[in-house]
Amino acid sequence: MKDNYNRNITYLRISITDRCNLRCTYCMPEEGVDKLSHKDLLSFEEIVEFTKQAVAMGINKVRLTGGEPLVRKGIVDLVKMLWDIDGIKDLALTTNAVLLKEYAQPLKDAGLQRLNISLDTLDKERFAQITRRDKLEEVLAGIDEAIKVGFKQIKLNCVIEKTKKEPDAVAVAKYAEDKGLQARFIRTMNLEKGEFWIVDGGDGGNCSICNRIRLSSSGDVLPCLFSDLGYNIREFGNKEAILQALEHKPQKGTISKKNEFYTVGG
Ligand code: 5AD
Ligand code: SF4
Repeated sequence: MKDNYNRNITYLRISITDRCNLRCTYCMPEEGVDKLSHKDLLSFEEIVEFTKQAVAMGINKVRLTGGEPLVRKGIVDLVKMLWDIDGIKDLALTTNAVLLKEYAQPLKDAGLQRLNISLDTLDKERFAQITRRDKLEEVLAGIDEAIKVGFKQIKLNCVIEKTKKEPDAVAVAKYAEDKGLQARFIRTMNLEKGEFWIVDGGDGGNCSICNRIRLSSSGDVLPCLFSDLGYNIREFGNKEAILQALEHKPQKGTISKKNEFYTVGG
């Protein structure tokens, strides 16, 4: 499906929860996060029905995000249900890997093909500073397990302040090379201030070739991360919400006062 700027929209990112077991300083406050109430959270059935409609209209690549997708109960079943949809060629997930040691094999068995794993540092203290949780060991064990299980592709997402030359980024690059993984370096963005950059080693942040739409955990179809436009599937219905998002997808992102990385999954 084409938007008004002739961009072919083929990529759907689905945030399946706004909860997270970390509290990365650039993403979430330590406390006082408004959690989505159970009734506002999309059910698996709603997510699957929506995805079927999106695939019928031209989506062929799906990524699950959060919050942290692995904290949502039944995630493996959801992956299975999505992989069963005819027409999905690529099914991926972005995780912080805290729970990955336990989930890597079941996710692979359920059909998940690719993983993006967030890793900003290899230093235990720095990790605890950045994420406000002491979980580096779990994360590294999760990454090793994912490698062992043999996903088609594993990429590391490393959030940097400004450059890849920062010590944490240099260490992550070396670790990635040692483990045979790809690393991408993402400059810290600020939705509210409209600060975003092209992601080094990825397509994110590049408006002219943007092929994505998003589904938030509460059912808003979002044409752009850096915009407050959204069309709720419970209000519009699946097809109309997608058509509205397509019709209103801005040529370029600007700012968002409403979106948060943990509700729309970056
Ligand atoms: N700036 C850039 N990327 C962010 N992420 C979350 N918050 C931000 C931010 N403020 C991204 C990171 C992380 C993924 C889950 O979301 O890349 O790995
Ligand atoms: Fe959680 Fe990811 Fe946000 Fe960190 S960046 S708090 S791991 S959702």
